[in-house]
Amino acid sequence: MKTQVGIIGAGPAGLILAQLLHLQGIDSVILERKSRNNIEGTVKAGILEQTTIDILREIGVGDRMDREGHFHNGNYFQFNGQRRHIDLIKYSGGKQVVVYPQHEVIIDLVNARYENGKDIIFDVEDVTLHDIDSKQPKIRYRKNGLDEELVCDFIAGCDGYHGPSRHAIPEQNRKEHVHFYQFGWLGILSDSAPAADELIYANHDQGFALLSTRTPILQRHYLQVDPFDGIANWSDDRIWSELTARTKTNDGWQVPDGPINSKGIFQMRSFVCETMQYGRLFIAGDAAHTVPPTGAKGLNLAATDVKVMACGIMEFYEQGITDILDRYSEICLRRVWGAERFSYFMTKLLHMNPHLDSFERGVQLAELDYFTSSEAGLKMIAENYVGLPIQWEKAGDLKTLLK
Ligand code: FAD
Ligand code: DHB
Repeated sequence: MKTQVGIIGAGPAGLILAQLLHLQGIDSVILERKSRNNIEGTVKAGILEQTTIDILREIGVGDRMDREGHFHNGNYFQFNGQRRHIDLIKYSGGKQVVVYPQHEVIIDLVNARYENGKDIIFDVEDVTLHDIDSKQPKIRYRKNGLDEELVCDFIAGCDGYHGPSRHAIPEQNRKEHVHFYQFGWLGILSDSAPAADELIYANHDQGFALLSTRTPILQRHYLQVDPFDGIANWSDDRIWSELTARTKTNDGWQVPDGPINSKGIFQMRSFVCETMQYGRLFIAGDAAHTVPPTGAKGLNLAATDVKVMACGIMEFYEQGITDILDRYSEICLRRVWGAERFSYFMTKLLHMNPHLDSFERGVQLAELDYFTSSEAGLKMIAENYVGLPIQWEKAGDLKTLLK
């Protein structure tokens, strides 16, 4: 089998890329390890920033997000029992975020793929990459017990943190930066009323808590926990008692509770792979970098990586040049490091490190006070939370191509 772009992974990165390429008349084949039901049912991200909202609209998959998503103009930061509002619109120059779950984005993108008359090859096994430094890279895989080979012009490695693509780049050509945290998140979905009109990021002596939402009757909340703790240690009563303690305000407000219908604990890490390109292989999204979820940046970075990749591939087929593709890594990594910085900052600002001394705790509270009250602090949080623009010294050229 032959295609122009072989895409490994049907997560947000792979599916957005396929749609961007399709709109430019460029053929792609998507290979996915899991089933359609699995990718359409896994609960992950909730917040899409303005750049992602714009990309989804531009590629024709924004209608349901616009109808069913909850657009937020701000959020709340809470500490010492006081809640402070961050006006994202005001401090970012008019940008917003939307609460629209990742699996709904996946459903919309998979539907668009089938409406285009194209397929996704699900349930593939043993994916390996070959000849990536040649003009005809190949992907080999197994499907229904048969060995298959896909010959491509380019391979897009969109296979998440654990996928094989990144490891196909020779070790001497890639530098991996990794940072672990002493925190994990316990995430729940509960049948309860929304906590507020916008998200609440709460810092408390007992640890961080985040009150998010899905629908008027289904809420998504998170608690900072020990990353090695077992979910069996967290009864529903214990979860609600921690959420209540960490988010109640000095004026007596308490989070509305209700039956919990799913819960799980995950670890967090910051990770960047430099380079994001080798030969005809381009990696994107979590395959190339991960962030702790506090800044709500992972899916959003995946979307902008593949936008740059699609522009480069389009330039190659239309003009026969590789100016953008040659600089793919450099263009993406500048924005990636910006989002890594913000996610690290948000994580340190809001979580309780069990080893903080009383001086460091005092500084953390002073930072929370500063960033939620000074114009400069509010602007820094707002412009990063809604998403930094893709920057390049040849921004004029890129913007023309990105139109
Ligand atoms: P993935 O979503 O991981 O997709 C990769 C795909 O590749 C998967 O479908 C996988 O099955 C497939 N694959 C892997 N290996 C192979 C293989 N060998 N062969 C074929 N296919 C393979 N981000 C935000 O922007 N906002 C948020 O609010 C936010 N909140 C989050 C909350 C939580 C609890 C979590 C866990 C994450 C959150 N994120 C958030 C991060 C976001 O979910 C990820 O960054 C995003 O899924 C990355 O997309 P991706 O396409 O790069 O990778
Ligand atoms: C959600 C996840 C996040 O990581 C975040 O920062 C905000 C919201 C969510 O799943 O709703």
